[in-house]
Amino acid sequence: MASLRIGQILFSQGFGTRRDCQGLVLRGDVAVAGRIVDDPDEAFDTAGLVFSVQGRSWPFHDKALVVLHKPAGYECSAKPRHHPSVMSLLPKPLRTRGLQPVGRLDEDTTGLLLFTDDGSLIHRLTSPKHHVPKVYEVTAKHPVTDEQVVALLKGVVLEDDPRPAVALAAVRTSECHLQLTLAEGRYHQVKRMLAAVGNRCEALHRSRFGALALPADLPQKGWAWVDVAELGLSAPPSSASR
Ligand code: URA
Repeated sequence: MASLRIGQILFSQGFGTRRDCQGLVLRGDVAVAGRIVDDPDEAFDTAGLVFSVQGRSWPFHDKALVVLHKPAGYECSAKPRHHPSVMSLLPKPLRTRGLQPVGRLDEDTTGLLLFTDDGSLIHRLTSPKHHVPKVYEVTAKHPVTDEQVVALLKGVVLEDDPRPAVALAAVRTSECHLQLTLAEGRYHQVKRMLAAVGNRCEALHRSRFGALALPADLPQKGWAWVDVAELGLSAPPSSASR
């Protein structure tokens, strides 16, 4: 169990430079268990610690893992070209402490997007060899045929890529809707797979990443803390989010 000074705690959680953090404490902007902490050297056990800054409650996380309900019209790139970055939807402390998106969703794709500052967890979640399933809800332009479902499950060859892309599951949920589960995350993979079977992806929404479903009560642009155990990974990869 780590005991850290409140100034160090604020710094580690992304509340600015060491000087900024000291200033927050000295100004009486920081409280723990309802008591204002105005000595930057006062130490606290970080396990399960919840502090507040300017009245906003903040749980301590050694490594942070959060889920965002991504709306359309945001790019996952750190240097977006045509639309704002998804990073702009996270609160400043999460940006300051260096959270990164786990993989990418296209600008027009909505749904579940994870962010973490745990590099080994990013690797664990994005490396194809770990086979973490991602579920996509596809709105197709044309009715989805049995042949298309069979082809997606058997594997299709994408343009400019000889390796077949195989769906772990493909379930037609209505005439033009398909739920597709993929273990990989190649560039535009769902859209290219739909094109490869002669259909077209009109809208795309990611509803699940590993065992984690997009929380039903999380509105578009909303974010929430995630415990790494919620992802249901087979082996403990790292120390994220405890
Ligand atoms: N596949 C796509 O084509 N786009 C996404 O955003 C995600 C998966």
